[in-house]
Amino acid sequence: MSPIKVGLVGGGAIARAHAIGFNNISVFFGDKPGFELYKLAEANDSLAEAAAKRYSFNNWTSDWRKVTNDPDVTLVDVATPTFLHKDPAIDALEHGKSVICEKPLSSNAADAKEMYSVAKRNGNVTMVGFNYRRVPLVTFARDMIRNGRLGKIFQIRTHFIQDWATPNFPLTWRFNSKQAGAGALADLGSHAIDMIRYLVGEPTAVCAQTVTIIENRPLPNEKDVKGKSDVDDTTFALLRLEGGIAAEVNASWIASGRKLQMGFEVNGSEGSVYFDMERPNELRYYSSHDSETEQGFKTIYGGQRHPYGDVLVFGVPSIGMGYLDSLTNQMRDLMAGVAKGEQLQPSFYDGWRVNQIMEAILKSALTERWVSVES
Ligand SMILES: NC(=O)c1ccc[n+]([C@@H]2O[C@H](COP(=O)([O-])OP(=O)(O)OC[C@H]3O[C@@H](n4cnc5c(N)ncnc54)[C@H](O)[C@@H]3O)[C@@H](O)[C@H]2O)c1
Repeated sequence: MSPIKVGLVGGGAIARAHAIGFNNISVFFGDKPGFELYKLAEANDSLAEAAAKRYSFNNWTSDWRKVTNDPDVTLVDVATPTFLHKDPAIDALEHGKSVICEKPLSSNAADAKEMYSVAKRNGNVTMVGFNYRRVPLVTFARDMIRNGRLGKIFQIRTHFIQDWATPNFPLTWRFNSKQAGAGALADLGSHAIDMIRYLVGEPTAVCAQTVTIIENRPLPNEKDVKGKSDVDDTTFALLRLEGGIAAEVNASWIASGRKLQMGFEVNGSEGSVYFDMERPNELRYYSSHDSETEQGFKTIYGGQRHPYGDVLVFGVPSIGMGYLDSLTNQMRDLMAGVAKGEQLQPSFYDGWRVNQIMEAILKSALTERWVSVES
């Protein structure tokens, strides 16, 4: 079989993490499906050349169409800012490529639906970069839930909170609602919403509060001139899920002291699990079957017997997997799916659903009432 030829659109922060994932596959797993890091597109020639050389891509261009149209390219990876996802993704889909696109899929639900519809019509293999699904103990928590270890699920609380968006943080595209879709909700909350859907189920209605705390931020490269942010710095949302399950999302990038608190707690009739990405090798588990004298959360340490355990070089539980390992796991699954032509999860369908839920959250905050999520 001819190798999968990868075209990467965008060479910034997350593209670097993707490149690490691609480059790690053969070292970590030794089962590298034939693929080649073929061509990278950036906004101009010098950025493209620098990123291509750094990430081990063989060719580069300043025109993303030369990636999405290239008949040799099999898989297109869209890692541009959110407002630049749709055009390269759709062009790649229309040219029959498999496509992985970063999250959130789009800055609005209508465009996300169009992206999903094109993929569905053409039968492309797609994936959205909700990488936390492939943190081993997150995958394991889901296995426990699916296997009934928590009994009947009652509720899930999720959060993704960080503290980097200080008042002096510049007014980049993430603070422009048209470009980003929303603020902390889109950047961070999209992952938390994906966790709810992945672990427990589909939201049917939402009730939310969004708050802009820092209204003016310095313009990039002009620190004495300020411009207006029109996005949420903090969002709290209540969600009703199918089957009467209750859910909660808190997204914030101004939560002082919180660095990478992407986490959840799921409570069921027979137990609970708690996870926090600041401690990615620990899953806290409570079983109501423990004797009364021994009840309490215990710590499960991630190791080789957990999902993706073959990444670990040593058989020592808690030796550690982190953020970048989830990207390696993601890219390995992606390559396997593309090689077999099998649909992957989270797909563009999942990406569209998250966009829909975020839009319902924004509408609820604006109208100060419960809003149904379209099905
Ligand atoms: N899954 C995650 O954990 C995660 C983390 C960070 C960002 N993201 C997502 O990744 C996307 C990119 O975010 P980022 O932080 O990497 O942004 P970034 O600004 O660091 O990188 C974006 C890159 O795209 C390039 N670019 C702009 N216009 C282009 C064009 N026309 N053609 C080719 N390249 C172009 C820019 O020059 C820049 O290098 C966003 O959608 C974001 O939400 C996901």
